[in-house]
Amino acid sequence: MDPAELVPLAARQSGPLQGRARVPGDKSISHRALILAALTVGETAINGLLEGEDVLHTADAMRLLGARVERIGDCAWRVHGVGVSGFAQPTRVLDFGNSGTGVRLSIGAVAGAPVTATFDGDESLRGRPMRRVLDPLEKMGARVIQVADDGRVPLTLQGASDLIPIIYEPPVPSAQLKSAVLLAGLAAPGETTVIEAEATRDHTERLLRHFGAKVTSKPYGDHGRRIVVQGQPELEPASIAVPADPSSAAFPMVAALIVPGSELILDAVMTNPLRTGLMTTLREMGASIEALEKKDDGGEEVADLRVRASVLKGVDVPAERAPSMIDEYPILAVAASFAEGVTRMRGLKELRVKESDRLAATADMLRANGVAVEIENDDLVVQGKGRPPGGGEVKTQMDHRIAMSALVMGLASESAIRVDDSAFIATSFPGFVELMRGLGADFS
Ligand code: S3P
Repeated sequence: MDPAELVPLAARQSGPLQGRARVPGDKSISHRALILAALTVGETAINGLLEGEDVLHTADAMRLLGARVERIGDCAWRVHGVGVSGFAQPTRVLDFGNSGTGVRLSIGAVAGAPVTATFDGDESLRGRPMRRVLDPLEKMGARVIQVADDGRVPLTLQGASDLIPIIYEPPVPSAQLKSAVLLAGLAAPGETTVIEAEATRDHTERLLRHFGAKVTSKPYGDHGRRIVVQGQPELEPASIAVPADPSSAAFPMVAALIVPGSELILDAVMTNPLRTGLMTTLREMGASIEALEKKDDGGEEVADLRVRASVLKGVDVPAERAPSMIDEYPILAVAASFAEGVTRMRGLKELRVKESDRLAATADMLRANGVAVEIENDDLVVQGKGRPPGGGEVKTQMDHRIAMSALVMGLASESAIRVDDSAFIATSFPGFVELMRGLGADFS
């Protein structure tokens, strides 16, 4: 995306939000569906793929690595895979745009193939740490040929089809890091183990099983898991239905809670328990969020959610909940600004290395709109006063979730809120502005 083309947008106090909507497919599962399908032998059909820019970059990367990836209809895709270790030598740099998930998972997959690939991305991605994935992959036998700024993209990696299986304990709770090691483990004989102190989203494990790999996952300690993948499987193609993304549903959900008189139904939102920390927290704050029909959609639990405007109160959010809502803190901070009392969100160190320094960006967003907020060590502390003044301009810093959070905040603040750039919303939630307008949001 060209950073010179800023797309400013403002949100104003709106009447009750009403209606029913289905948010786009889950971003995490969409990346994994493309990458894993590329590692099977044969053809996989994917329905409900998120056609956001992040995922489209992963699709392009899989093409450059030799898979046939075709769009056959609205969110309907077909991938003809090349098998584990079957990637071809790419003829160009693999450009992942804004996406940490795309690049880190692809680095893991490429580590297990006898090719040399260069990974790059936009200015935001070039600032994010990649050492965390390179360290275990080097232990497994992949070679880092070149890397910027000791651990950033652009970087060049040489993979191998005979990696060494390892037992790895990630130093940070990260589903991307876990997934990179598990994907590399596909190319190693025997068992590759990841021991997580804090369980993170398990979509890679679920999809690996879906494609026929042997993966076990057992509880470890109070909050962790021990995950073992058996290497060198023959992955079989299997169709995938991508459920609606709970991290995207978070925006209309909080909007409905804070705009008086609202009532929305969000269709078939994925309710994987490793992704529902925001719902748990909002309910503790007093939110009316009702799971209507629950069903299984492509191996994931989904539910239609009825959300009604609610009086919220401040709460203390424990650090161990962070992995299950890591992308939801900016929008939770918005909800906290409309609550009565203090909300303390604990243990947010990882937010510093997201698409922006999201801890600072979230605090700046609230401050610019008249909310008292402090960062105390790794905690974010928000003083809720019912309805914030608003009226600020928010710098989105190439961060889609900051942009959407600020726009939601503007729907119920006293005065309108402007974002300097709404373009990055397209990385994860294409159609956000139209979907929200359809429910009654005043964006202009
Ligand atoms: C993701 C994992 C999380 C999350 C990101 C998506 C994934 O990142 O923030 O948006 O799909 O695995 P970390 O693994 O860095 O925590």
